[in-house]
Amino acid sequence: MTENKRLLRVLNGEALWPPPLWLMRQAGRFLPEFRALREKADFMTRCMTPDMAVEITLQPIRRFGMDGAILFSDILVLPWAMGQSLEFVEGKGPILGAIRSEADLNRLEPGMIAEKIEPVMETLRRLRATVDGPDSIGVAAPGSVTLLGFAGAPFTVACYMVEGSGSREFATVRAMAYQSPALFDRLIDLLTETTTELLSAQIKAGAEAVMLFDSWAGLLPPSEFRRHVIAPTRQIVKTLKARHPGVRVIGFPRLGGVMVAEYARETGVDVMALDTGADLAQVAAQVDPGLVLQGNLDPISVLAGGEAMRREALAIREAGRGRPHVFNLGHGVLPNTPPEHVGDLIQTLRGTAG
Ligand code: CP3
Repeated sequence: MTENKRLLRVLNGEALWPPPLWLMRQAGRFLPEFRALREKADFMTRCMTPDMAVEITLQPIRRFGMDGAILFSDILVLPWAMGQSLEFVEGKGPILGAIRSEADLNRLEPGMIAEKIEPVMETLRRLRATVDGPDSIGVAAPGSVTLLGFAGAPFTVACYMVEGSGSREFATVRAMAYQSPALFDRLIDLLTETTTELLSAQIKAGAEAVMLFDSWAGLLPPSEFRRHVIAPTRQIVKTLKARHPGVRVIGFPRLGGVMVAEYARETGVDVMALDTGADLAQVAAQVDPGLVLQGNLDPISVLAGGEAMRREALAIREAGRGRPHVFNLGHGVLPNTPPEHVGDLIQTLRGTAG
């Protein structure tokens, strides 16, 4: 089965040309077929209704034939499953009942997670049966699509749980880490354990590799980065690998800058997802040659499209030549990206030229 899965082969350390590809945030936002479903149900309903979540996960694969399908869900499903209030407000993003004290933290119910996330596991079981099934999904060869699970990494999820919304600086949460270290450590420990359980359940339900999104890791200075990004990630990777030998873990410490090499070395992730600001060739020269790299085209270039996008994409493809590389963006596809640009990007990358 693995033979046809080009993405899984590269995640397992093989160098393939041209590199397999998928795009962060490919399921949703920028596709008209996703926006049509949005009229029918709110975001959490879409995440928690297997029929809908399966459909949304497969929409980009049907249209473009990416090598990987990423589960349609959200990093904030975990706090929601522990009973934190969560709403996605049009134009504002997520709004949560902020956690600011010991009492707030004590109100969370980690014992409820397994039951609350059961529909997500049903979604994964159906997705795996579909991508590996005989008629596949009306695109690509049957059994050629790799199914990816994911979670937010503890620090990034803590950012939203404490701040109660998105933010440019996440000053409240970063101040809490300095002012109330015992409380903040308790939150990070809770998230380390529950994220491990969430990803473990996803792997059992059929996810073939999992990704940890640490979108706000780059806000931290090195000492805090080691404590709240590297240490919890190392713990999660270690437990997952003990329970699921051979499982591949992708780490994405966004805006990690100079800390990326240390993160790669210390956490045990198999794949380093690079953000837009990283120089793929330079990182490749610094890290273990067996480490798989993923990334890192500027999502704005895909919004812009045309010759500049094609040139940048081919340069990144070239920088990854000869080593295991999964082509992706440096952050998620932007909502107003014309779908034709994504089609052009994929055609360019799969072209035999070069
Ligand atoms: O990659 C995929 O397409 C799979 C699904 C996925 C979503 N969110 C669906 C979603 C994934 C992997 C995520 C990850 C996620 N969610 C991150 C980490 C990656 C990143 O972009 O940095 C973060 C920080 C979140 C939290 C979140 N969810 C925010 C801030 C928002 C509102 C703004 C936005 O990005 O749209 C969401 C909502 C959300 N999650 C939508 C989708 C498709 C849009 C909801 C809608 O408009 O209906």
